[in-house]
Amino acid sequence: MMQSLGGDGEVINKQVILKDYVTGGTAKESDLEVISTRTINLKLPKGSDGVLLKNLYLSCDPYMHACMNKIENPSIDIVSFSPGLPIRGFGVGKVVDSGHPKFGKGDFVWGSTGWEEYSVLSRLESDNLFKIDHTDVPLSYYTGILGVTGMTAYAGFFEICCPKKGEYVFVSAASGAVGQVVGQVAKFMGCHVVGCAGSQEKIDLLKNKLGFHEVFNYKEEPDLEATLRRCFPEGIDIYFDNVGGKMLDAVLVNMRRNGRIALCGMVTEFQKDKPQGVYNLIHAIGNRVRLEGFIMSDYLHLYPKYLDFVLPLIREGKIVYLEDLAYGLESGPSALIGILTGRNKGKQVVVIAKE
Ligand SMILES: NC(=O)c1ccc[n+]([C@@H]2O[C@H](COP(=O)([O-])OP(=O)(O)OC[C@H]3O[C@@H](n4cnc5c(N)ncnc54)[C@H](OP(=O)(O)O)[C@@H]3O)[C@@H](O)[C@H]2O)c1
Repeated sequence: MMQSLGGDGEVINKQVILKDYVTGGTAKESDLEVISTRTINLKLPKGSDGVLLKNLYLSCDPYMHACMNKIENPSIDIVSFSPGLPIRGFGVGKVVDSGHPKFGKGDFVWGSTGWEEYSVLSRLESDNLFKIDHTDVPLSYYTGILGVTGMTAYAGFFEICCPKKGEYVFVSAASGAVGQVVGQVAKFMGCHVVGCAGSQEKIDLLKNKLGFHEVFNYKEEPDLEATLRRCFPEGIDIYFDNVGGKMLDAVLVNMRRNGRIALCGMVTEFQKDKPQGVYNLIHAIGNRVRLEGFIMSDYLHLYPKYLDFVLPLIREGKIVYLEDLAYGLESGPSALIGILTGRNKGKQVVVIAKE
């Protein structure tokens, strides 16, 4: 709830800040803090060419765990959060004030923003925002299936995996944000789709709601190589890898000739001080398997094409999209930390306000 301090549109701006860099393993809720000690003016300074956003929905993404560490060699893809300042991520917001020629007051946008009620984005930051033209679908979807998550699934599956009808596809973290989209898109392509997840509830969702052909709970399978052999007696043509670690090793020995592995993410690596290592790579040689990492931002030129593809599927109810909504900035730390323990069922979103 916005609290006016009177005079000049100054209000309290609740924020989720990183207390200090995380050291020694997985981030904890206590590494983050919700504070209400800073204020913001709801009018941009005269001459500003940026945007003032009211943040509505925030996306919880696994890579944000890496940003909580001090990254020694920052890349353009990932930089550390700054201790004492609001953490950053993708979100959906409403423009409150704008000096940017592309955006006007009242526009809905998605893109990189702060974990706070209001954010002032510079001209450069605002240049990377996407204006939301289709508001007949839930706005929160632009944190996921209509934003980064969906583009990750689309680019990874079509551009990296190059699927063909009838191929055997395996998806890890299959009930998660990216995995659920990949699995359903693979089914539309006429592929045989197997997914894994970490609880019975998620297994039921994959089977009964998302329509995966076969599913297994990786936590209950003592021998992952054997499990994959059972699910894929003919071998795997495409592996969409969201987790890395032991699963990638088990997949490598089960790949078919000319198989493709999209290295999308390695959520298991965020939980270790030392990388686990890959032991079965030698199998990729004989089977002519192509492993390719990708970053969805390299494919943003495909975003309009992706929207043309996915919006009708959403409107016609042909694709199911699971969201796990946490309400209020106060719930942000636990929602964000929860995705690394698999607490989320579907895309984890923090709802700050609906409009
Ligand atoms: N390349 C890119 O451009 C790009 C863009 C976006 C996301 N990504 C990556 O895509 C992957 C999926 O992201 P998302 O947003 O869809 O996350 P998500 O699946 O919604 O959440 C992460 C899930 O990972 C699973 N998990 C956690 N720890 C695990 C472990 N030790 N072993 C196996 N599974 C584990 C959990 O599900 P279970 O209960 O099933 O274990 C958890 O729900 C992540 O690796 C992310 O970094 C890449």
